[in-house]
Amino acid sequence: GTGLNVLAKAAGKHYFGSATDNPEFTDAPYLAILSSSEFGQLTPGNTMKWVYTEPTQNEFSYTGGDAVVTLAKGANQIVRAHNLCWYEELPDWVSNGSWTAATLTAVLQNHIANVAGHYKGEVYAWDVVNEPFSDSGGYRSFVFQQVIGDNYINIAFAAARAADPNAKLYLNEYNLEYAGAKFTTALQTITGLVQDGVPIDAVGFEGHMIVGSVPSSTALAAQMNQFTALGLDVAITELDIRMTLPATTALLTQQEADYQSMVGACMLVTRCVGVTLWDYTDKYSWVPSTFSGQGEACPWDDNLAKKPAYTGITNAL
Ligand code: XIL
Repeated sequence: GTGLNVLAKAAGKHYFGSATDNPEFTDAPYLAILSSSEFGQLTPGNTMKWVYTEPTQNEFSYTGGDAVVTLAKGANQIVRAHNLCWYEELPDWVSNGSWTAATLTAVLQNHIANVAGHYKGEVYAWDVVNEPFSDSGGYRSFVFQQVIGDNYINIAFAAARAADPNAKLYLNEYNLEYAGAKFTTALQTITGLVQDGVPIDAVGFEGHMIVGSVPSSTALAAQMNQFTALGLDVAITELDIRMTLPATTALLTQQEADYQSMVGACMLVTRCVGVTLWDYTDKYSWVPSTFSGQGEACPWDDNLAKKPAYTGITNAL
C-alpha cells in the first residue's frame, strides 16, 4: 500500500504517526484513515495522562489508554505513550496536596511504577517528563519541581526504566525548534542527565508551529543534532502548523512548504526516528480551542480531505 508510514519506513524512519483521542473512536471515516497505511504509530492525546490514570490517589484507571493500545494493535501500529509527569492535566490531589520531598517522591514513583508497569511491553516509548523547562530558561516551576527539586526528573526516568525496561524513554518539550534560553537550558540539563547515567533515551521535539514561522530543515536538524551528539534519539512528537483564520490559498501553500521543512529536518537526522501529527485532521485538532482565532493546523481538513500540507509531507519523505 501507499501512505505516509509506508513512505517514512521506506526512507529509513521507524514510523509516521498521529495522536488520537478516545471520543473520536465513534467516527468511522476518521478511524478508517487513522488505521490505514498512512500511520504506523498512535499517541493517546489525553487518556494516559495523570488526571485520567490516577484521578484519586492510588486508584488507577486504564480504560481510555487501553482502548488506544487495542486500536493500535489491531492496525499493527506502535504506541508512543504520553505522559508520566507533566504540570497540566495533573489532578488537584497532587497539585494541592501538602507534601514533603519524601512523600511526593513516593507519589511520583508509585504513579510511574503503576502506569508504566501496566503498559510494560505494550508501548514503544514513553514521554516520561513532559515540558519541564521554562520558555525564559531554567526549570518550569510546578509542584514536583518546587517540592522535590530539579532532581524529580532523574527520579521519574529511573522509575520509568524500572517499570518498563524496553520502552524508549523521552523528555518531551516545545520551543526547542529554535535556539534560545529554553533550548540552552534543555541542552545543559539533558547533557547532565546523560553524564550522570540517568536512563533517558531520546528528546521529543513537539513541533507546535505557526505557518510562515518554521525553521529551515537544516536549522531544525542542527537543533536535533545537538541531542543526537549525546547518543540520544530524537523525534517530532506533536506536529501541527497553525494559521490565523480564515485560511487562504497563500496560507495553505505556505503551510505545505512548512510541513515539508519540518518533516525534512527529521529526514536529515539519522537518529530522528519518526514524526507524529498532533492528530491528522482539523476536525479534532486542539488548536482552535487553545489559540483564539487560529486553526487549520493539520494536513487533513475538517471533512477528512487531504490539504496541500499532505503533499508537503510526501515531498519530504
Ligand atoms: C493537549 C490535548 O491535545 C488537548 O486535548 C488537552 O485539552 C490539552 O492537552 N503539549 C502536550 C500535549 O504535550 O499533551 C497537549 O495536548 C498539547 C501540548
